Amino acid sequence: MYPDVRPRRLRTTPAMRRLVAETVVRPADLILPLFVREGIAEPKPVPSMPGVLQHTRDSLRKTVVEAVEAGVGGIMLYGVPLTRDEVGSAGTDPDGILNVALRDVAAEVGDATVVMSDLCLDEFTSHGHCGVLDARGRVDNDATLTRYADMAVCQAEAGVHLVGTSGMMDGQVGVVREALDAAGHTDVGILAYAAKYASAFFGPFREAVESALQGDRRAYQQDPGNGREALREVALDVAEGADLVMVKPALPYLDVVAAVRAAVDVPVAAYQVSGEYAMAEAAFANGWLDRDRTILEMLTSIRRAGAQQILTYWATEATALLRAGY
Ligand code: PBG
Repeated sequence: MYPDVRPRRLRTTPAMRRLVAETVVRPADLILPLFVREGIAEPKPVPSMPGVLQHTRDSLRKTVVEAVEAGVGGIMLYGVPLTRDEVGSAGTDPDGILNVALRDVAAEVGDATVVMSDLCLDEFTSHGHCGVLDARGRVDNDATLTRYADMAVCQAEAGVHLVGTSGMMDGQVGVVREALDAAGHTDVGILAYAAKYASAFFGPFREAVESALQGDRRAYQQDPGNGREALREVALDVAEGADLVMVKPALPYLDVVAAVRAAVDVPVAAYQVSGEYAMAEAAFANGWLDRDRTILEMLTSIRRAGAQQILTYWATEATALLRAGY
């Protein structure tokens, strides 16, 4: 009887397919990124990210509670300040929007979820770069590290569980670890944006944080063609004390996710970024892709490639799909 090998036998019924499923995404794997804006009375939509809002402090609290009740694994918070300056002072001001919002969230949900924050200056600088500039206008690596150290302590004091070092400065993880420890925050962890590419897919995010950036970040973020370099970045971050490492963006870099997963023994996260979200939302709006199936297929693919934690703007929505047993 030909064919004598029949893989389709394992696909005959939903129960059979469930039995042999290799990859399962759990609600707790999903991390919801959120934007909080200073000085607005109502939440404000981000046009290039349909469904995503710049939150007020109030709407942020409510949205976080909703996400926690839905069972997401954590939230990642970005602050959009009213005023910016050369050194990103609002990032290290305990009354700056991000730190204030972190305190709000900590008071609201405590340890019921994992609260994370972006540890980077780009939302706070008048030039939009992730660090401070030297006399010639280039991003000054070591001067930026000092700013990151202060920022980390500020965020820890506001109650964050994990700081997300996303600036791609050399030595940032080590400096942040040392600053946290010196201030007694030995329990605050570091989610290292270890392999972060100079990506066109961050476009909508820049709108969400009203970035002032002119030019690009190629002098600090990685060249999209460099895969092996990601392993070097990851190894450095692990050696400096990263508790989790992340690859970003996700879908166009699944080969990097898989390589990183094979190379390290810390948890590997991936960030399904704003452009990945915008691209799919545009297709959903046109009826070109099936919303629920597409979202779950993308998340499953990221998980299959080896990322355990996934930052996604669909986190809360996806938990409902996962529970429905999609
Ligand atoms: C830097 C930061 C960026 C994103 C997360 N952290 C922007 C950048 O590097 O330009 C992008 C996230 C997304 O596109 O969803 N603070």
